This record gives sequence, structure tokens and C-alpha cells, in this order.
Amino acid sequence: MVFDYIDGAAGEGYGELLNRETIRNIRLQPRVLNNVEHRSLEVPLFGNSAGLPFGISPMGMCNLSAPGADLMLARLAASENIPTGASTAASTSLEDIIEAASGNAWFQLYFSGNETMSDQLLDRARACGYQTLVLTVDVPEVGRRPRELRRGFKMPFKIGVPQFIDFACHPVWSLTTLAKGRPELANFGGKFGEFDRTASRAGADWSLLQRLRDKWQGNLVIKGVLSADDAQRIKSYGIDAIQVSSHGGRQLESAPPAIEMLAKIRQAVGSEYPLFYDSGLRGGEDIVKAYAMGASYVLLGRPFLFAIAAGGEQGLTEMKTLLAQEISIALAQLGVCDIQSIDREMIVL
Ligand SMILES: Cc1cc2nc3c(=O)[nH]c(=O)nc-3n(C[C@H](O)[C@H](O)[C@H](O)COP(=O)(O)O)c2cc1C
Repeated sequence: MVFDYIDGAAGEGYGELLNRETIRNIRLQPRVLNNVEHRSLEVPLFGNSAGLPFGISPMGMCNLSAPGADLMLARLAASENIPTGASTAASTSLEDIIEAASGNAWFQLYFSGNETMSDQLLDRARACGYQTLVLTVDVPEVGRRPRELRRGFKMPFKIGVPQFIDFACHPVWSLTTLAKGRPELANFGGKFGEFDRTASRAGADWSLLQRLRDKWQGNLVIKGVLSADDAQRIKSYGIDAIQVSSHGGRQLESAPPAIEMLAKIRQAVGSEYPLFYDSGLRGGEDIVKAYAMGASYVLLGRPFLFAIAAGGEQGLTEMKTLLAQEISIALAQLGVCDIQSIDREMIVL
């Protein structure tokens, strides 16, 4: 059930597959005899420098992959100086995440239509030191994800006979999760009210963007954009960055490959505007391709949770090291010493 929640996507999963296939089919142009002895993976990000060219996209209920997953991600963010997303639907409170991340966390807001609840979350985020707010706009309704539905995945858990059998078949996961307490929507409960991850957010419109811009003085990122027209309009509201994303194929199965829309959006917003990218990146060369298609920074989702599920915090560190090595080797093959030198010219059409 947990694997189907993490790995699952909208419909038959073709949109999610197409994201990865499209990235895989991009070819990069090797160049030779440039001195590439000294390579750097640092990338400028909101006036600072991210230690690695990839960050952690916000994900709800990460502790389902293993107990303590949110804090493992936060510690990775702290040690590498990269951003980790603290989701509205996180299984660890936004206060605990930013502390463990030593400030390297971005708060991700789902606007539920309940302005009081959103204001309360913004106040909490501000109070504990978040400087970057990510508003996710591609979930007017939660996408239909049959693998979740078939498993009866609900938060909080509803444990019927099929779920009980499923847990019994995965004793290591079940016992460790039981021992550490079952994951909850940690930003809610008690005085903070209840959150329904499947609730409709269909009432949000452009006026929300204006209100949020007025309320949030820090960096404001709009996540989940696939249209060049939308991107231009968002930019005109004084938004600091756009995260091009198809939510990892979890929302609209028939959406175009997000990486192709990244290139179109880059053309529409000009070369200087900060554009972040996530969806379908699985290796170091994929990350380099996203920069070549126009990203100013990139983030990954599922691979982090798979690494934790497979190998805990050590697995996560190993995956980070592997990705960094792959990127560095790819830079050498392309004849450049840093990510900022990657550009569209390096793609072979
Ligand atoms: C298990 C899971 C939970 C997610 N929860 C959120 C969320 O709470 N908020 C959000 O903005 N995006 C959420 N996302 C989307 C990710 O931020 C990101 O867009 C996506 O995972 C990137 O694609 P990738 O998994 O192919 O790297 C979630 C993704 C997954 C896999």
C-alpha cells in the first residue's frame, strides 16, 4: 500500500512514464579536450549558494517510507545546504523540519479554501524562520490514482482486512512503524484543526496569488505550472520563482512531458527568471538535462523516499553521493566545469 502511494500516479501511470521517457530520449553533446579538472556542483539560489544542484521536492507523509524520514531529509538538506520541502501534509511538523534542516527548508502550502487555516500556517512558518514559501497550484482536485484507491489508502489509515494482510506480509515495515508510532498529518490536530488531503481546492483563483504576494514578504514560489501563458501571468504578479512540474505525473495523466514544457516556459519568461523543475528525474544525467532545458534549479521527489525505504539514512546519503558523482562525471563529458555553463546548445536534436 505504501509503495503504491509513493510510486503511484494518475490513471494508468502513462503520464509519469512519459516524463521519464522524454527525459531519457534527450541526447547531450559530448565535447573533448577542455580542461575539466576542477568541477563545481554549486548553484546560486535565492541569493545564497546551494551545495548541490538538486533539492528535495515537498512530499506529504514521508515517514511512511520509514520512521523518521522527514528528519533524515532535513538533515541531508542541512549538511549539503540544499532545500527540502516541508509539505502541508507532512508527517513531521513544519517547526521540527526547519530546525533539523538548519533553516534549509521551504514551506509548501496547499490552499484549502479555508483562509484562516492558511493564515495560521503562514504565521507558524514565519515564526519558525521559513524564508521561502511554495504554493502548490496543480491540485484543484487530487488526481485519481487507481493504485492508491485499489489499496484503500487513506490518511489517517483505515485498517480493514486487506490492509491488515498487507501489513502482515511486510513485518519489518509494520513492526518498526508500529514501534515508532504510526505517521500522522503532523501540522494538524488539536488547536490546528483537521486537514483532508483529498479535499477540493477548486475555489482557488488568481486573486489568491495577489493576496499571498501581499501577505508573504519572503521568497514566493508557485509550484505545478506547465503552461507558458500561466507562467507569464504568474511572473507579472511579482512571484519570485516558478516550479515547472507535473507533480510527478500524479495529477493529469494526459499532461505533456513536464521537461518539454520547461523549455517552452523558459522561452516565455526570458533567460533570467528563476525557473525550478521537478518530475521524472532519476539520475545525474537527467538532472544535467533539466538544466540544459532551462532550469535554474531542480528538485526530485520519489527517489529520495525509495532510497530511505531501501537503506534508511545511509541509503539516502549513498543516493545523494551517487547523484553528485553522476552529475560531476556528466559535466566532464560535456567539457564544462560547472552547472551554470550548461545550456540549450548542449542538447543534440
Ligand atoms: C509520495 C508523494 C507525496 C507528495 N506530496 C506532495 C505534497 O504534499 N505537496 C506537493 O506540492 N507535492 C507533492 N508531491 C509531488 C512532489 O513534490 C514532486 O512534484 C514530484 O514527486 C516530482 O516527481 P518525481 O517523484 O518524479 O521526482 C508528492 C509526491 C510524492 C511521490
